[in-house]
Order: sequence, then C-alpha cells, then structure tokens
Amino acid sequence: MDDKSPVALITGANRGLGLALVKAFAGHGWRVMATAREPAKATALAGVAAGNPLVSIEPLDVASTESIEALAQRHRGEPIDLLFNNAAVLGDRHDVGNRRQQLGGLDQALFVQVMKTNVYGPLKLAELLADNVAASGQKKIVTLSSGLGSLSLMGSMSMFYFYQMSKAALNMGLRALRHDLRPRGITVAILAPGLVKTELLAESGYSGEALTPEQSAAGLYQLVAGLTPEDPGLPINVDGQVLPW
Ligand SMILES: NC(=O)c1ccc[n+]([C@@H]2O[C@H](COP(=O)([O-])OP(=O)(O)OC[C@H]3O[C@@H](n4cnc5c(N)ncnc54)[C@H](OP(=O)(O)O)[C@@H]3O)[C@@H](O)[C@H]2O)c1
Repeated sequence: MDDKSPVALITGANRGLGLALVKAFAGHGWRVMATAREPAKATALAGVAAGNPLVSIEPLDVASTESIEALAQRHRGEPIDLLFNNAAVLGDRHDVGNRRQQLGGLDQALFVQVMKTNVYGPLKLAELLADNVAASGQKKIVTLSSGLGSLSLMGSMSMFYFYQMSKAALNMGLRALRHDLRPRGITVAILAPGLVKTELLAESGYSGEALTPEQSAAGLYQLVAGLTPEDPGLPINVDGQVLPW
C-alpha cells in the first residue's frame, strides 16, 4: 500500500452507488474508508475489502450524532482528502400503499428520519471532519444531491415530499458549508449521480432507462478528480451539466 495514496471516506458504502464508488476510488489507487451502518451485514463490501488492502470498513450511522462523533474521534489528526457523502434514504416506497410522505398521510417520524439522514448527517460529518479534510492534500467534500430536490425541475411533483425537501434543504446547507470552509482551502461540491439502478431507484417505482452504479461511479470519479477550489458550488450532474436549483 502506498502511504501517499489519497484517502477517501465514503458513506453508505455497503450497496448501491456507495459500493460502486468504493470500487472506483480504490481502483484508481485511493485508500478508501468505506462506511456502513451495519458492517456485519455488509457482505458485498466485505468481499471488496478482502480482495483489496486499500479498502477498510468502518461503522457509521449518519443519522446518529453519537456515531458521527465516534468516527471523528477514532480518526482525529488523520488527513482525509475526500469526504464523500453518499448515504441517504428515499423514505418510503411509493408502490405499496404507503403515503407517509404524500398528502393525506404525512408522517412526522418519517420526516425526521429522512431529514436526519439526508441533511443533518452530511453536514454534521463535514463539521466534525473539517480538520481532517483541511489537513489533507486535496481538501474536498462532495455530497450527492438529486434532481428531485430541484424546484425548477420538480416543482410540480408530489410523490416524495420529504426526500424532495431533504435534497433542496441539503443544497442550501452545502452552500452555507461552502462559504464557511472556503477560507480553509476546502472545496465543497454538490454532485448528482443521474438515474442509477439501485434499491433507492427501485423503491421510487421508476423502471425506465438508468445508469448502472458502475457507470455513474466512473463519471462521479472523473468529476471529483477534476474539482478545483474554483468550483462554483452549483449542483453538477454526472454528465457534467449544471442542474438548475
Ligand atoms: N439511484 C438514483 O437514481 C439516485 C438519483 C439521484 C440521487 N441519488 C443519491 O445517490 C446516493 C446513493 O443512493 P443509492 O441509489 O445508491 O441508494 P441505495 O441503494 O438505497 O443505498 C443507500 C445507502 O445509504 C445507506 N444509508 C441509509 N441510511 C443510512 C444511515 N442512517 N447511515 C448510514 N448509511 C445509511 C444505506 O445503507 P443500509 O444498507 O444500511 O440501508 C445504503 O448503503 C443518495 O444520496 C441518493 O439520494 C440516487
């Protein structure tokens, strides 16, 4: 293992896009701290780590302040070149009669879970790992947003109130974070992966054309590699196009 390899911490790395991101970054020689909320059940990730000494597995529940604090404590003083906030929840399946994030069934417990996971988690993690990122060579914090959080694209959609709201709120939080961390040389970027064949997309009920996780992760890798401190802080889709807010 090359001690000079850049280090990435990727959340929600046990499946879907997160798992593909682990393989993409490790494939390019990065050391990857791949986090999962239940490492004991992360069998696919364990398989990747078993075959690649660049990959280590860490427990992390991004909806839990205690879990975030414990991770930050374990890695105090260690440079982290890239914090990649990937983990998120859709919140509910649309196709099984649940309306917990639709008008008529709005559910506070689900709202709290979605907002804690999709908004608070990435921001708290960035707050507590800012010193690690600032101490690194690349100094990048990347978070996955979604076109579903875009007012101009999705302002007439009402299937996933909480998920849509969470990604719109996340965008604003990331702009504030960008403002605060810029003086420390940290680039805070907002990326979107496109439509990707994962459990989240299946839960949404969408069954049309979509990228594979590997295709999306390859594109996201290139975007991260090309990030500079001059990044304008706009949401960039995996195809390089700016997503309107
Ligand atoms: N797929 C798409 O088309 C699409 C489109 C736009 C944006 N995105 C974004 O892309 C990212 C990845 O989505 P995906 O499609 O790969 O979703 P996914 O297949 O549902 O995977 C979500 C990942 O997040 C993890 N996670 C959920 N809650 C967590 C928590 N509290 N703590 C730690 N990890 C948690 C899951 O872990 P568990 O296995 O423990 O649940 C899983 O590893 C998300 O930010 C999503 O919003 C996806």
